[in-house]
Amino acid sequence: MANKIEIKYNGESFELPVMTGSENESAIDIGKLRSMTGLVTLDYGYKNTGSTTSEITFLDGEKGILRYRGYPIEQLAEKADFLEVAYLLIYGELPTKEEYEKWTRDITHHTLIHEDFRTIFEGFPSNAHPMGVLSSLVTSLTAFYPKSLDPERSMGELNMSIVRLIAKLPTMAAWAYKNELGFPLNYPDNAMSYVDNFLYMMFALPVEKYKVNPVISRALNKLLILHADHEQNCSASTVRLVGSSHASLYVSISAGINALWGPLHGGANQAVIEMLEEIIEDGGDIDKYIKKAKDKNDPFRLMGFGHRVYKNFDPRARIIKQSADEVLSALGVEDPVLEVAKKIEKIALEDEYFIQRKLYPNVDFYSGIIYRALGIPTEMFTVMFALGRLPGWIAQWLENRKNGEPIGRPRQIYTGVNERDYIPLENR
Ligand code: ACO
Repeated sequence: MANKIEIKYNGESFELPVMTGSENESAIDIGKLRSMTGLVTLDYGYKNTGSTTSEITFLDGEKGILRYRGYPIEQLAEKADFLEVAYLLIYGELPTKEEYEKWTRDITHHTLIHEDFRTIFEGFPSNAHPMGVLSSLVTSLTAFYPKSLDPERSMGELNMSIVRLIAKLPTMAAWAYKNELGFPLNYPDNAMSYVDNFLYMMFALPVEKYKVNPVISRALNKLLILHADHEQNCSASTVRLVGSSHASLYVSISAGINALWGPLHGGANQAVIEMLEEIIEDGGDIDKYIKKAKDKNDPFRLMGFGHRVYKNFDPRARIIKQSADEVLSALGVEDPVLEVAKKIEKIALEDEYFIQRKLYPNVDFYSGIIYRALGIPTEMFTVMFALGRLPGWIAQWLENRKNGEPIGRPRQIYTGVNERDYIPLENR
Protein backbone atom coordinates (compact mmCIF):
# COMPACT_ATOMS: atom_id res chain seq x y z
CA MET A 1 0.00 0.00 0.00
CA ALA A 2 1.36 3.45 -0.94
CA ASN A 3 2.59 5.43 2.02
CA LYS A 4 2.41 8.80 0.27
CA ILE A 5 -0.23 10.70 -1.65
CA GLU A 6 0.43 13.33 -4.27
CA ILE A 7 -1.80 16.35 -4.58
CA LYS A 8 -1.65 18.97 -7.32
CA TYR A 9 -2.65 22.55 -6.62
CA ASN A 10 -1.96 25.75 -8.55
CA GLY A 11 0.35 23.87 -10.89
CA GLU A 12 2.50 22.54 -8.07
CA SER A 13 2.74 19.01 -6.76
CA PHE A 14 2.91 18.12 -3.07
CA GLU A 15 3.38 14.84 -1.24
CA LEU A 16 1.62 13.98 1.99
CA PRO A 17 2.27 10.88 4.12
CA VAL A 18 -0.37 8.14 4.38
CA MET A 19 -0.45 6.32 7.70
CA THR A 20 -1.96 2.89 8.31
CA GLY A 21 -3.39 1.60 11.59
CA SER A 22 -3.12 -1.89 13.05
CA GLU A 23 -6.38 -2.93 11.34
CA ASN A 24 -5.18 -1.51 7.98
CA GLU A 25 -7.27 1.64 8.08
CA SER A 26 -5.44 4.35 6.18
CA ALA A 27 -5.39 8.11 6.59
CA ILE A 28 -3.72 11.03 4.86
CA ASP A 29 -1.68 12.92 7.41
CA ILE A 30 -2.51 16.55 6.59
CA GLY A 31 -0.49 18.04 9.48
CA LYS A 32 1.77 19.95 7.02
CA LEU A 33 -0.88 20.68 4.35
CA ARG A 34 -1.39 24.34 5.27
CA SER A 35 2.30 25.18 5.60
CA MET A 36 2.97 23.53 2.22
CA THR A 37 -0.04 24.75 0.21
CA GLY A 38 -1.89 27.42 2.22
CA LEU A 39 -4.93 25.12 2.21
CA VAL A 40 -6.89 23.75 5.14
CA THR A 41 -9.45 20.94 4.89
CA LEU A 42 -13.17 21.52 5.42
CA ASP A 43 -15.21 18.66 6.89
CA TYR A 44 -18.50 19.55 8.60
CA GLY A 45 -19.19 17.22 11.52
CA TYR A 46 -15.75 15.57 11.00
CA LYS A 47 -17.40 12.93 8.81
CA ASN A 48 -14.10 12.19 7.10
CA THR A 49 -11.57 13.31 9.67
CA GLY A 50 -9.54 11.24 12.09
CA SER A 51 -8.88 13.42 15.12
CA THR A 52 -6.34 11.12 16.76
CA THR A 53 -4.68 7.72 16.77
CA SER A 54 -6.08 5.44 19.44
CA GLU A 55 -5.39 2.03 20.96
CA ILE A 56 -8.68 1.75 22.85
CA THR A 57 -11.56 0.70 20.61
CA PHE A 58 -11.72 -0.63 17.07
CA LEU A 59 -14.88 -0.52 15.06
CA ASP A 60 -15.59 -1.31 11.45
CA GLY A 61 -18.93 0.23 10.56
CA GLU A 62 -19.15 -1.55 7.21
CA LYS A 63 -18.63 -5.01 8.70
CA GLY A 64 -20.41 -4.32 12.03
CA ILE A 65 -17.34 -5.07 14.20
CA LEU A 66 -16.71 -3.58 17.65
CA ARG A 67 -13.76 -4.50 19.89
CA TYR A 68 -12.44 -3.01 23.13
CA ARG A 69 -8.64 -3.33 23.31
CA GLY A 70 -8.93 -6.19 20.80
CA TYR A 71 -11.66 -8.16 22.60
CA PRO A 72 -14.91 -8.63 20.58
CA ILE A 73 -17.90 -6.91 22.16
CA GLU A 74 -19.92 -10.15 21.87
CA GLN A 75 -17.46 -11.98 24.17
CA LEU A 76 -17.25 -9.16 26.70
CA ALA A 77 -21.04 -8.71 26.84
CA GLU A 78 -21.51 -12.45 27.34
CA LYS A 79 -18.74 -13.20 29.82
CA ALA A 80 -17.36 -10.12 31.55
CA ASP A 81 -18.29 -7.97 34.49
CA PHE A 82 -18.68 -4.20 33.94
CA LEU A 83 -15.87 -3.26 36.35
CA GLU A 84 -13.55 -5.71 34.58
CA VAL A 85 -14.34 -4.03 31.25
CA ALA A 86 -13.84 -0.60 32.84
CA TYR A 87 -10.37 -1.69 33.98
CA LEU A 88 -9.60 -3.07 30.52
CA LEU A 89 -10.56 0.17 28.79
CA ILE A 90 -8.74 2.43 31.23
CA TYR A 91 -5.55 0.44 31.84
CA GLY A 92 -5.30 -1.48 28.54
CA GLU A 93 -5.43 -5.10 29.79
CA LEU A 94 -7.95 -7.31 31.57
CA PRO A 95 -7.12 -7.25 35.29
CA THR A 96 -5.43 -10.21 36.97
CA LYS A 97 -7.35 -11.70 39.91
CA GLU A 98 -5.37 -9.54 42.38
CA GLU A 99 -5.78 -6.40 40.26
CA TYR A 100 -9.51 -7.04 39.92
CA GLU A 101 -9.93 -7.53 43.68
CA LYS A 102 -8.06 -4.31 44.48
CA TRP A 103 -9.95 -2.39 41.77
CA THR A 104 -13.39 -3.48 42.99
CA ARG A 105 -12.36 -2.94 46.63
CA ASP A 106 -11.14 0.60 45.87
CA ILE A 107 -14.31 1.45 43.98
CA THR A 108 -16.56 -0.07 46.63
CA HIS A 109 -14.88 2.03 49.30
CA HIS A 110 -15.50 5.33 47.53
CA THR A 111 -19.21 5.04 46.76
CA LEU A 112 -20.27 7.51 49.47
CA ILE A 113 -20.57 11.14 48.47
CA HIS A 114 -19.90 14.09 50.77
CA GLU A 115 -22.93 15.01 52.92
CA ASP A 116 -22.78 18.56 51.53
CA PHE A 117 -24.02 17.10 48.25
CA ARG A 118 -27.39 16.73 49.94
CA THR A 119 -27.55 20.52 50.21
CA ILE A 120 -26.68 20.81 46.54
CA PHE A 121 -29.50 18.37 45.69
CA GLU A 122 -31.94 20.44 47.71
CA GLY A 123 -31.05 23.43 45.53
CA PHE A 124 -32.36 21.73 42.38
CA PRO A 125 -36.06 21.96 41.55
CA SER A 126 -37.60 18.51 41.94
CA ASN A 127 -38.41 18.32 38.22
CA ALA A 128 -34.77 18.94 37.18
CA HIS A 129 -33.66 16.55 34.42
CA PRO A 130 -31.23 14.04 35.98
CA MET A 131 -28.66 14.54 33.18
CA GLY A 132 -28.36 18.24 34.07
CA VAL A 133 -28.10 17.32 37.75
CA LEU A 134 -25.45 14.68 37.02
CA SER A 135 -23.20 16.93 34.96
CA SER A 136 -23.42 19.69 37.61
CA LEU A 137 -22.56 17.23 40.38
CA VAL A 138 -19.55 15.87 38.52
CA THR A 139 -18.23 19.42 38.10
CA SER A 140 -18.95 19.99 41.81
CA LEU A 141 -16.48 17.21 42.64
CA THR A 142 -13.70 19.73 41.89
CA ALA A 143 -14.85 21.74 44.91
CA PHE A 144 -14.58 18.71 47.20
CA TYR A 145 -11.32 17.42 45.73
CA PRO A 146 -9.37 20.54 44.67
CA LYS A 147 -6.17 18.52 44.14
CA SER A 148 -7.94 16.89 41.19
CA LEU A 149 -7.67 20.21 39.34
CA ASP A 150 -4.01 19.47 38.70
CA PRO A 151 -4.09 16.03 37.10
CA GLU A 152 -0.33 16.06 36.40
CA ARG A 153 0.33 16.34 40.14
CA SER A 154 0.77 12.57 40.57
CA MET A 155 -0.43 9.32 39.07
CA GLY A 156 -1.77 8.43 42.54
CA GLU A 157 -3.99 11.52 42.58
CA LEU A 158 -5.20 10.83 39.06
CA ASN A 159 -6.01 7.21 39.93
CA MET A 160 -7.98 8.47 42.92
CA SER A 161 -9.99 10.76 40.62
CA ILE A 162 -10.72 7.78 38.36
CA VAL A 163 -11.79 5.56 41.27
CA ARG A 164 -13.94 8.32 42.77
CA LEU A 165 -15.71 8.97 39.49
CA ILE A 166 -16.57 5.33 38.84
CA ALA A 167 -17.56 4.80 42.47
CA LYS A 168 -19.63 7.95 42.94
CA LEU A 169 -21.44 8.33 39.60
CA PRO A 170 -24.04 5.61 40.41
CA THR A 171 -24.68 7.22 43.82
CA MET A 172 -25.14 10.63 42.20
CA ALA A 173 -27.36 9.19 39.47
CA ALA A 174 -29.58 7.32 41.94
CA TRP A 175 -29.82 10.38 44.19
CA ALA A 176 -30.75 12.58 41.23
CA TYR A 177 -33.60 10.16 40.54
CA LYS A 178 -34.75 9.99 44.18
CA ASN A 179 -34.62 13.78 44.39
CA GLU A 180 -36.84 14.03 41.32
CA LEU A 181 -39.38 11.71 42.98
CA GLY A 182 -39.12 13.46 46.32
CA PHE A 183 -38.19 10.12 47.95
CA PRO A 184 -35.57 9.60 50.67
CA LEU A 185 -32.01 9.08 49.42
CA ASN A 186 -30.45 5.64 49.87
CA TYR A 187 -26.84 5.37 50.97
CA PRO A 188 -24.70 2.85 49.09
CA ASP A 189 -24.39 -0.66 50.49
CA ASN A 190 -20.78 -1.77 50.12
CA ALA A 191 -21.70 -5.43 50.60
CA MET A 192 -23.30 -5.38 47.14
CA SER A 193 -21.80 -5.61 43.67
CA TYR A 194 -21.48 -2.44 41.59
CA VAL A 195 -24.64 -3.08 39.55
CA ASP A 196 -26.73 -4.44 42.45
CA ASN A 197 -25.77 -1.49 44.61
CA PHE A 198 -26.95 0.91 41.93
CA LEU A 199 -30.28 -0.90 41.61
CA TYR A 200 -30.64 -0.86 45.39
CA MET A 201 -30.00 2.90 45.60
CA MET A 202 -32.48 3.50 42.78
CA PHE A 203 -35.34 1.30 43.93
CA ALA A 204 -35.13 0.48 47.65
CA LEU A 205 -37.57 2.30 49.92
CA PRO A 206 -37.37 2.54 53.70
CA VAL A 207 -40.85 1.01 53.97
CA GLU A 208 -40.17 -2.34 52.33
CA LYS A 209 -37.42 -4.90 51.80
CA TYR A 210 -35.72 -4.66 48.39
CA LYS A 211 -34.20 -7.74 46.79
CA VAL A 212 -32.22 -7.37 43.56
CA ASN A 213 -33.61 -9.53 40.75
CA PRO A 214 -30.63 -11.36 39.14
CA VAL A 215 -32.26 -11.11 35.68
CA ILE A 216 -32.30 -7.33 36.02
CA SER A 217 -28.76 -7.24 37.42
CA ARG A 218 -27.36 -9.35 34.55
CA ALA A 219 -29.18 -7.31 31.90
CA LEU A 220 -27.90 -4.05 33.35
CA ASN A 221 -24.33 -5.37 33.54
CA LYS A 222 -24.57 -6.25 29.84
CA LEU A 223 -26.01 -2.87 28.87
CA LEU A 224 -23.27 -1.02 30.73
CA ILE A 225 -20.61 -3.08 28.92
CA LEU A 226 -22.21 -2.45 25.52
CA HIS A 227 -22.12 1.28 26.17
CA ALA A 228 -18.64 1.44 27.70
CA ASP A 229 -16.78 2.93 24.73
CA HIS A 230 -17.31 3.75 21.08
CA GLU A 231 -14.10 5.46 19.94
CA GLN A 232 -14.27 9.09 18.74
CA ASN A 233 -18.03 9.72 19.04
CA CYS A 234 -19.48 13.14 19.95
CA SER A 235 -19.13 12.83 23.75
CA ALA A 236 -15.72 11.08 23.72
CA SER A 237 -14.41 13.73 21.32
CA THR A 238 -15.82 16.38 23.66
CA VAL A 239 -14.03 14.82 26.63
CA ARG A 240 -10.76 14.71 24.66
CA LEU A 241 -11.18 18.27 23.39
CA VAL A 242 -11.90 19.70 26.83
CA GLY A 243 -9.04 17.64 28.30
CA SER A 244 -6.70 18.91 25.57
CA SER A 245 -6.85 22.36 27.20
CA HIS A 246 -5.46 20.57 30.31
CA ALA A 247 -8.81 20.95 32.06
CA SER A 248 -9.17 18.38 34.85
CA LEU A 249 -10.72 14.94 34.50
CA TYR A 250 -13.92 15.82 36.39
CA VAL A 251 -14.81 18.84 34.27
CA SER A 252 -13.93 17.03 31.05
CA ILE A 253 -16.26 14.15 32.01
CA SER A 254 -18.97 16.63 32.94
CA ALA A 255 -18.69 18.10 29.42
CA GLY A 256 -18.99 14.56 28.01
CA ILE A 257 -22.21 14.03 29.98
CA ASN A 258 -23.66 17.19 28.43
CA ALA A 259 -22.62 16.14 24.92
CA LEU A 260 -24.23 12.74 25.46
CA TRP A 261 -27.53 14.34 26.48
CA GLY A 262 -28.47 15.47 22.95
CA PRO A 263 -31.17 13.45 21.13
CA LEU A 264 -28.86 12.76 18.18
CA HIS A 265 -26.43 11.02 20.56
CA GLY A 266 -27.20 9.32 23.91
CA GLY A 267 -30.47 11.17 24.33
CA ALA A 268 -31.81 9.01 21.49
CA ASN A 269 -32.77 6.18 23.89
CA GLN A 270 -35.28 8.49 25.61
CA ALA A 271 -36.38 9.87 22.24
CA VAL A 272 -37.00 6.34 20.87
CA ILE A 273 -39.46 5.47 23.65
CA GLU A 274 -41.18 8.85 23.36
CA MET A 275 -41.51 8.28 19.60
CA LEU A 276 -42.91 4.73 20.04
CA GLU A 277 -45.40 5.96 22.65
CA GLU A 278 -46.45 8.78 20.34
CA ILE A 279 -47.06 6.29 17.51
CA ILE A 280 -49.22 4.11 19.79
CA GLU A 281 -51.18 7.11 21.11
CA ASP A 282 -51.71 8.26 17.54
CA GLY A 283 -53.45 5.00 16.64
CA GLY A 284 -50.41 2.84 15.81
CA ASP A 285 -50.20 3.84 12.14
CA ILE A 286 -46.56 2.86 11.53
CA ASP A 287 -46.67 3.56 7.78
CA LYS A 288 -47.56 7.19 8.50
CA TYR A 289 -44.39 7.59 10.61
CA ILE A 290 -42.20 5.78 8.07
CA LYS A 291 -43.52 8.24 5.45
CA LYS A 292 -42.79 11.18 7.77
CA ALA A 293 -39.22 9.91 8.31
CA LYS A 294 -38.66 9.78 4.55
CA ASP A 295 -40.21 13.19 3.85
CA LYS A 296 -37.42 15.75 3.44
CA ASN A 297 -39.85 18.58 4.34
CA ASP A 298 -40.66 16.93 7.66
CA PRO A 299 -38.05 17.24 10.43
CA PHE A 300 -39.19 13.90 11.92
CA ARG A 301 -36.53 11.18 12.00
CA LEU A 302 -36.92 7.58 12.98
CA MET A 303 -35.17 7.75 16.33
CA GLY A 304 -32.85 4.81 17.00
CA PHE A 305 -32.14 4.40 13.30
CA GLY A 306 -28.97 5.35 11.49
CA HIS A 307 -25.45 5.86 12.71
CA ARG A 308 -22.52 7.98 11.66
CA VAL A 309 -20.18 5.02 11.38
CA TYR A 310 -22.32 1.87 11.22
CA LYS A 311 -23.46 1.28 7.67
CA ASN A 312 -24.41 -2.23 8.67
CA PHE A 313 -26.21 -3.64 11.72
CA ASP A 314 -24.84 -2.07 14.92
CA PRO A 315 -23.39 -5.17 16.68
CA ARG A 316 -24.57 -3.77 20.02
CA ALA A 317 -28.15 -3.55 18.67
CA ARG A 318 -28.03 -7.26 17.75
CA ILE A 319 -27.03 -8.22 21.32
CA ILE A 320 -29.54 -5.83 22.88
CA LYS A 321 -32.42 -7.02 20.72
CA GLN A 322 -31.84 -10.59 21.88
CA SER A 323 -31.43 -9.43 25.46
CA ALA A 324 -34.70 -7.43 25.24
CA ASP A 325 -36.59 -10.58 24.29
CA GLU A 326 -34.95 -12.58 27.12
CA VAL A 327 -35.49 -9.91 29.78
CA LEU A 328 -39.11 -9.28 28.87
CA SER A 329 -39.97 -12.97 28.90
CA ALA A 330 -38.01 -13.63 32.17
CA LEU A 331 -39.80 -10.73 33.86
CA GLY A 332 -43.14 -11.60 32.28
CA VAL A 333 -43.47 -8.10 30.84
CA GLU A 334 -45.69 -7.58 27.82
CA ASP A 335 -44.83 -4.24 26.34
CA PRO A 336 -46.79 -2.91 23.35
CA VAL A 337 -43.85 -0.60 22.69
CA LEU A 338 -41.67 -3.64 21.90
CA GLU A 339 -44.24 -4.90 19.41
CA VAL A 340 -44.35 -1.53 17.62
CA ALA A 341 -40.52 -1.40 17.65
CA LYS A 342 -40.29 -4.83 16.00
CA LYS A 343 -42.83 -3.86 13.33
CA ILE A 344 -40.96 -0.62 12.58
CA GLU A 345 -37.68 -2.45 12.32
CA LYS A 346 -39.12 -4.98 9.88
CA ILE A 347 -40.74 -2.33 7.66
CA ALA A 348 -37.69 -0.05 7.68
CA LEU A 349 -35.26 -2.86 6.86
CA GLU A 350 -37.29 -3.69 3.76
CA ASP A 351 -37.83 -0.08 2.67
CA GLU A 352 -35.75 1.28 -0.23
CA TYR A 353 -35.14 4.64 1.52
CA PHE A 354 -33.51 2.97 4.54
CA ILE A 355 -31.72 0.30 2.47
CA GLN A 356 -30.17 2.89 0.14
CA ARG A 357 -28.92 5.03 3.02
CA LYS A 358 -27.79 1.99 5.02
CA LEU A 359 -29.94 2.99 7.98
CA TYR A 360 -30.11 0.17 10.53
CA PRO A 361 -31.34 0.12 14.14
CA ASN A 362 -28.64 1.46 16.45
CA VAL A 363 -27.86 0.62 20.09
CA ASP A 364 -30.56 2.98 21.34
CA PHE A 365 -33.43 1.41 19.42
CA TYR A 366 -33.79 -1.47 21.89
CA SER A 367 -31.95 -0.27 24.99
CA GLY A 368 -34.87 1.93 26.07
CA ILE A 369 -37.22 -1.05 25.89
CA ILE A 370 -35.00 -3.03 28.28
CA TYR A 371 -34.65 -0.06 30.63
CA ARG A 372 -38.45 0.23 30.73
CA ALA A 373 -38.78 -3.47 31.54
CA LEU A 374 -36.18 -3.06 34.30
CA GLY A 375 -38.35 -0.33 35.81
CA ILE A 376 -36.00 2.53 34.96
CA PRO A 377 -37.91 5.72 34.16
CA THR A 378 -37.54 7.31 30.72
CA GLU A 379 -35.71 10.45 31.84
CA MET A 380 -33.06 8.21 33.46
CA PHE A 381 -32.22 6.37 30.21
CA THR A 382 -29.46 8.70 29.13
CA VAL A 383 -28.08 8.66 32.68
CA MET A 384 -27.77 4.88 32.33
CA PHE A 385 -25.84 5.42 29.12
CA ALA A 386 -23.54 7.88 30.95
CA LEU A 387 -22.85 5.31 33.69
CA GLY A 388 -21.82 2.81 31.04
CA ARG A 389 -19.80 5.26 28.95
CA LEU A 390 -17.81 6.64 31.90
CA PRO A 391 -14.82 4.23 31.63
CA GLY A 392 -14.58 4.95 27.89
CA TRP A 393 -14.48 8.69 28.50
CA ILE A 394 -11.81 8.23 31.16
CA ALA A 395 -9.72 6.03 28.83
CA GLN A 396 -10.05 8.57 26.00
CA TRP A 397 -9.07 11.46 28.29
CA LEU A 398 -6.05 9.56 29.62
CA GLU A 399 -4.89 8.59 26.14
CA ASN A 400 -5.09 12.18 24.96
CA ARG A 401 -2.86 13.26 27.84
CA LYS A 402 -0.53 10.27 27.51
CA ASN A 403 -0.06 10.99 23.79
CA GLY A 404 0.77 14.62 24.70
CA GLU A 405 -1.72 15.76 22.07
CA PRO A 406 -1.85 19.50 21.35
CA ILE A 407 -4.85 21.59 22.32
CA GLY A 408 -7.76 20.82 19.98
CA ARG A 409 -8.43 23.88 17.88
CA PRO A 410 -9.96 23.41 14.42
CA ARG A 411 -9.68 25.95 11.61
CA GLN A 412 -12.62 27.45 9.72
CA ILE A 413 -13.45 29.04 6.41
CA TYR A 414 -14.83 32.49 7.10
CA THR A 415 -17.92 33.29 4.99
CA GLY A 416 -19.07 36.48 6.76
CA VAL A 417 -19.00 40.17 5.85
CA ASN A 418 -15.69 41.69 4.72
CA GLU A 419 -14.08 44.60 6.59
CA ARG A 420 -16.32 47.62 7.14
CA ASP A 421 -16.31 50.73 9.33
CA TYR A 422 -18.15 51.10 12.61
CA ILE A 423 -21.33 53.22 12.37
CA PRO A 424 -22.19 55.29 15.47
CA LEU A 425 -25.49 54.31 17.14
CA GLU A 426 -27.28 57.57 16.18
CA ASN A 427 -26.56 56.95 12.48
CA ARG A 428 -27.92 53.35 12.35
N1 ACO B 1 -34.61 8.66 9.93
C1 ACO B 1 -34.79 9.08 8.66
N2 ACO B 1 -33.77 9.45 7.83
C2 ACO B 1 -32.53 9.38 8.32
C3 ACO B 1 -32.27 8.97 9.65
C4 ACO B 1 -33.36 8.59 10.46
N3 ACO B 1 -33.19 8.18 11.70
N4 ACO B 1 -30.94 9.02 9.88
C5 ACO B 1 -30.37 9.45 8.74
N5 ACO B 1 -31.34 9.67 7.79
C6 ACO B 1 -31.11 10.08 6.39
C7 ACO B 1 -30.79 11.57 6.32
O1 ACO B 1 -31.94 12.35 6.14
C8 ACO B 1 -29.88 11.58 5.10
O2 ACO B 1 -30.68 11.47 3.95
P1 ACO B 1 -30.25 12.22 2.57
O3 ACO B 1 -28.95 11.61 2.17
O4 ACO B 1 -31.37 11.94 1.62
O5 ACO B 1 -30.14 13.68 2.93
C9 ACO B 1 -29.09 10.28 5.21
O6 ACO B 1 -29.96 9.40 5.93
C10 ACO B 1 -27.76 10.41 5.95
O7 ACO B 1 -28.02 10.99 7.23
P2 ACO B 1 -27.08 12.04 7.96
O8 ACO B 1 -27.89 12.85 8.92
O9 ACO B 1 -26.26 12.78 6.93
O10 ACO B 1 -26.10 11.06 8.73
P3 ACO B 1 -25.20 11.46 9.97
O11 ACO B 1 -24.09 10.48 9.98
O12 ACO B 1 -24.88 12.89 9.98
O13 ACO B 1 -26.19 11.20 11.24
C11 ACO B 1 -27.32 10.20 13.02
C12 ACO B 1 -26.16 10.08 12.01
C13 ACO B 1 -27.24 11.55 13.76
C14 ACO B 1 -27.22 9.09 14.05
C15 ACO B 1 -28.67 10.09 12.26
O14 ACO B 1 -28.75 8.83 11.61
C16 ACO B 1 -29.89 10.31 13.15
O15 ACO B 1 -30.28 11.46 13.37
N6 ACO B 1 -30.48 9.21 13.72
C17 ACO B 1 -31.58 9.34 14.65
C18 ACO B 1 -31.05 9.68 16.03
C19 ACO B 1 -30.37 8.51 16.71
O16 ACO B 1 -30.88 7.40 16.73
N7 ACO B 1 -29.21 8.79 17.32
C20 ACO B 1 -28.45 7.79 18.08
C21 ACO B 1 -27.17 7.44 17.39
S1 ACO B 1 -26.36 6.14 18.27
C22 ACO B 1 -25.61 6.90 19.56
O17 ACO B 1 -25.25 8.04 19.53
C23 ACO B 1 -25.42 6.12 20.70
